[in-house]
Amino acid sequence: MRVPVILIPILATGAVSRSVSFVGQTPIADKQQSSTLILDAPRGDVCPLPPKVPPPKDGLHSSLDFVLDPSYRSRQVERLSRVVQVPSTSTELEDDPWSDYYAPFLDLHDELEKLFPLIHSYAKVEKVNRFGLAYTFNGTNSALKPALFMAHQDVVPIDDPDDWTYPPFSGYFDGQWLWGRGSSDCKNTLIGVLSAVEDLLKQGWNPTRTLVLSFGYDEESKGWKGAGRLAEHLENRYGKNSFEFIIDEGGMGIQTIGDKIYAVPGVGEKGSVDIHISLSIDGGHSSIPPAHTGIGIISEIIYHLEREDLFTPKLDLSHPSRQGLTCQAKHSADYVEPWLWPALESSDYTGLAEALAASRGERVRFLYQTSQAADLINGGVKINALPEKINATVNYRVAIHENTDVVRARAINIITPIAKAHNLTFSAFGSGNKRSANNNHLDISDFSLALEPAPISPTSPSDAIWARLSGVTRQFFETLTNKTVLVVGDVMTGNTDTRFYWNLTRNIWRFSPMRTGGSENIHTVDERVDIDVHLEGLAFYYELIRAFDKYED
Ligand SMILES: *[C@@H]1O[C@H](CO)[C@@H](O)[C@H](O)[C@H]1NC(C)=O
Ligand SMILES: *[C@@H]1O[C@H](CO)[C@@H](O)[C@H](O)[C@H]1NC(C)=O
Ligand SMILES: *[C@@H]1O[C@H](CO)[C@@H](O)[C@H](O)[C@H]1NC(C)=O
Ligand SMILES: *[C@@H]1O[C@H](CO)[C@@H](O)[C@H](O)[C@H]1NC(C)=O
Ligand SMILES: *[C@@H]1O[C@H](CO)[C@@H](O)[C@H](O)[C@H]1NC(C)=O
Repeated sequence: MRVPVILIPILATGAVSRSVSFVGQTPIADKQQSSTLILDAPRGDVCPLPPKVPPPKDGLHSSLDFVLDPSYRSRQVERLSRVVQVPSTSTELEDDPWSDYYAPFLDLHDELEKLFPLIHSYAKVEKVNRFGLAYTFNGTNSALKPALFMAHQDVVPIDDPDDWTYPPFSGYFDGQWLWGRGSSDCKNTLIGVLSAVEDLLKQGWNPTRTLVLSFGYDEESKGWKGAGRLAEHLENRYGKNSFEFIIDEGGMGIQTIGDKIYAVPGVGEKGSVDIHISLSIDGGHSSIPPAHTGIGIISEIIYHLEREDLFTPKLDLSHPSRQGLTCQAKHSADYVEPWLWPALESSDYTGLAEALAASRGERVRFLYQTSQAADLINGGVKINALPEKINATVNYRVAIHENTDVVRARAINIITPIAKAHNLTFSAFGSGNKRSANNNHLDISDFSLALEPAPISPTSPSDAIWARLSGVTRQFFETLTNKTVLVVGDVMTGNTDTRFYWNLTRNIWRFSPMRTGGSENIHTVDERVDIDVHLEGLAFYYELIRAFDKYED
């Protein structure tokens, strides 16, 4: 039997956070003077606890069995380990699903068929663009919109296997942690969802609401081949806005603050655009150089991009992060910044974002602010020859109060005077004459397809579907931990395969139901997952499927 869950606080303890004050002279700082008054004001109906949704009386066994019964534990170790052992990596460099590169996915599908025989006999299984997997379990009531569970089958490649404590594709289990690439991103989700359904089928479950599982195979490489095609396939079959909800990996998991637990599904995603800067310029012998070589000019551009007209963070009323912060200020006041409540009442949305970044670290800044990172630079071939072709690529993750055009316009504004100063012709995003340009030409363009910030999924307590997710989550994790559970949405700074699924429903939840500390080293050496945390996730999927199976909103 497993020990009770131990949850790791994300925030500083009350004592520490109280000693932290925010920087800068903002109107929030002024407000702090009167904070006592405001703090004493009633906090009213903000952040009400959602009514719990108890398990339906469907005769199925309790989800707690997954976390309490050792036989489930050893079976999950076996399942997850076997799937981690298949090196199903993806790459941006190979577009053809029929290439040998993707052969491991044949093994993965074989393994899934062996591990989940009931699923493979009851479901309609479709392979989309060779390795995309769509499982359909037709419900008996076609008036209910289908529920969609997502995960991805691929993992990021590994660098040097010798850096790993246990070989990355050995699926080693040490009694608590299951090690290996993909163990926590996100074969645990893949296997968790499949295991929940297999277990339901084993009990003779017959779905009322149609259930669809959709698993891409190149999420780590932008997702076009897998999720891109699966989403198209589902939209062709079911139409727009045809699903009750979609749940995928992601979000900020299950966090503990003091005596409360926060479940934090991602209900939005930042946008993304990569700007490619490319310069063609006269070469020559490096013993008689111009004042600025092409490398110097590209460097100057990046220098200015990093210093001028910087992006400002903003945490305005429409930002999903407010929900969690408001709940913390109300329900966990002793553990968060004492100024949080009055700061949330201020209309200085930038000051609030800056104060939180100062208090909680730069990581939270980029929930509220567009990020910019020059990640690639190329140029020069020889030490005695002036570089003729130089290029650089800058990655932007676009905050939800902005869009990709804001990012492009800013780049044009900053780069135009630099091009002029060097007598370069300049074209930007298809405007200007890029082709005719022989030399001494600067061009900027989108490097890959841009993505706008995702639509925000509803999180109002009055939204029936959100309220039901919240109620199930609360019921499940309160039973498990005996702590009050708050369910709050937030945005993600990265993107998931859900980027292709926006047309299918407003209710998209990027939510790996895993405790903080239960998964380690995603995308790097020694990736691993705590098997008990995996079992809790599995149990949660089991509850979620049941809770929506007959539900009519
Ligand atoms: C599932 O239902 C759809 C109609 O909603 C039907 O077209 C399809 O054939 C059914 N599939 C199976 C396997 O029963
Ligand atoms: C950038 O420059 C490198 C080196 O010259 C070149 O190989 C590469 O193709 C260029 N990238 C693009 C997108 O043009
Ligand atoms: C740009 O061209 C102008 C005239 O065409 C010339 O005066 C100036 O020196 C040039 N500047 C550079 C940086 O080459
Ligand atoms: C929760 O409370 C119940 C009843 O008081 C107790 O039996 C159970 O062990 C507690 N569980 C945890 C995880 O603390
Ligand atoms: C969503 O629908 C729009 C409008 O029909 C379409 O242009 C777009 O391609 C669809 N998006 C995706 C990701 O399929």
